[in-house]
Formats: sequence, C-alpha cells, structure tokens
Amino acid sequence: MRQPLVAGNWKMNGSRASVAELLDGIKAGLDEVKVAEVAVCPPFVFVPEAQARLQGTAVAWGGQDLSVHESGAYTGEIAGSMLADYGCRYVIVGHSERRSYHHETDALVAEKFAAARKAGLVPIFCVGETLEERESNVTEAVVGRQVDAVIAHCGVEMLGEGVIAYEPVWAIGTGKTATPEQAQEVHAFIRRRVEEASPAVAAKVRILYGGSMKPENAAELMSKEDIDGGLIGGASLKAADFLAICKAAN
Ligand code: 13P
Repeated sequence: MRQPLVAGNWKMNGSRASVAELLDGIKAGLDEVKVAEVAVCPPFVFVPEAQARLQGTAVAWGGQDLSVHESGAYTGEIAGSMLADYGCRYVIVGHSERRSYHHETDALVAEKFAAARKAGLVPIFCVGETLEERESNVTEAVVGRQVDAVIAHCGVEMLGEGVIAYEPVWAIGTGKTATPEQAQEVHAFIRRRVEEASPAVAAKVRILYGGSMKPENAAELMSKEDIDGGLIGGASLKAADFLAICKAAN
C-alpha cells in the first residue's frame, strides 16, 4: 500500500508575510488530513521559515532544485547538504520549468537525483511531455527516456528511494488538466517501465500527478490505481485549496 503524498511546489512566489500566513494556514487545517503525507517546497530563502513553523508538525518541507556539486565556486547554487541542514526531507529535481528555462538535460537531472540522495534528501523527480510531443504521439518515448536516464545513472534501487511526478507540460499552469484516464495511462506506463528493471521498486514507488490539480479534480485523479498523490503548483499557494487537495486523498 503506497501512502499518497501531496506536495506543494510554490515556485517563485511569496513574501515573508505571505509565507508565514500560508504555513500557519496549512498547519491549522491539518487535523482533517487523514491519509496523505503533506509537504511544501518554498523558494530557498523561505526554507528556514518553513522549518521554524513546520518543525514538530506532520508537514515536511523541501527545496525546488539543488546543485549537482557539494560545495565550492558555483555562484548562485544551493547544495543538497544545505537543504538537509535546514531539515528538508524533499527536493524537486527535473521540473519542466528547469528543463526548459535552464536547459537541464536528462543527464543533469539524473546527476541531481544522485546528489539529492547523497545529501539524504528524497528527490521528487519530474517527467512529462510537451503538447507538441503529445500531439506527435511520442509521450511514452519521452517519458520513458526521462525515467531511463535516472535508472541508468542511479540504478533502479535509488530511483525507488525517490518519488516520481508525472507533469504533462501542457497541463502546468494552464488550467488544462489531464483527464484521470489520460494521467492513469501514463502513470501505468511509467510503473511498467520501472517494473522492467525491478518489480519490487515498481510496486512501491510513488508516482504523483502534477498539472492544474485543484480541489475540484484531485479526488478523481487520485482515485486512479497508479496515481499516488499530487505535485501542486498554483493551488498550493492558498491554504484552503491545498488542504482540500490533501483531504481529497482521504
Ligand atoms: P500548476 O498546479 O500550477 O499547474 O503547476 C503544477 C506544477 O508544475 C507543480 O510542480
């Protein structure tokens, strides 16, 4: 039985004041979240605030990216050990916004996955196709290639120590959600792909859906056999909406 995970990816949003309010709002509504594990991934500068307010609660926190390097002359980068030092449990790797705006390749993402594990963090490893790729019927080829890159570099056992997030690029921030059937189809494909390397890892690894998940569609998406939770962007910035999605896993 895989415990659902609902993780908020705040992206580049918030201020000290709004972050404090959001964290307190999430904390206040946790009692009704019975099933899902909950996590938030704020921008780096707000990670200490997340730690201060969430320590001792059931909510975990994490970063949105990390460096492949452990330390040194890498201006602007954040090491996994720094995130771990602030109590992070998770770190997102390979988000499509990093892949497209920062030219992160499958190989770099795989290195980031390994760097996260080395620092003791649980990577939330994102995969997903663009609209053009979906329309050219190469969704499985693209997602399969993205998954294979981590298996090749890290090994399937290490992949199983992370969480996979299927985020169709065309559904991110567009209000256009994949239908539960469309999402389930790709989730099942991902699980079969992992199964070829290890049936045991395939059975246990959590695969989250991300892309315009909201209170209205979360329960139906998460009711699908291979959808083990959500990676939430926009709707994670409002405590009430985020909590409603967390409760949808009940
Ligand atoms: P939205 O929920 O805003 O579509 O973003 C999804 C996402 O990219 C989460 O990582």
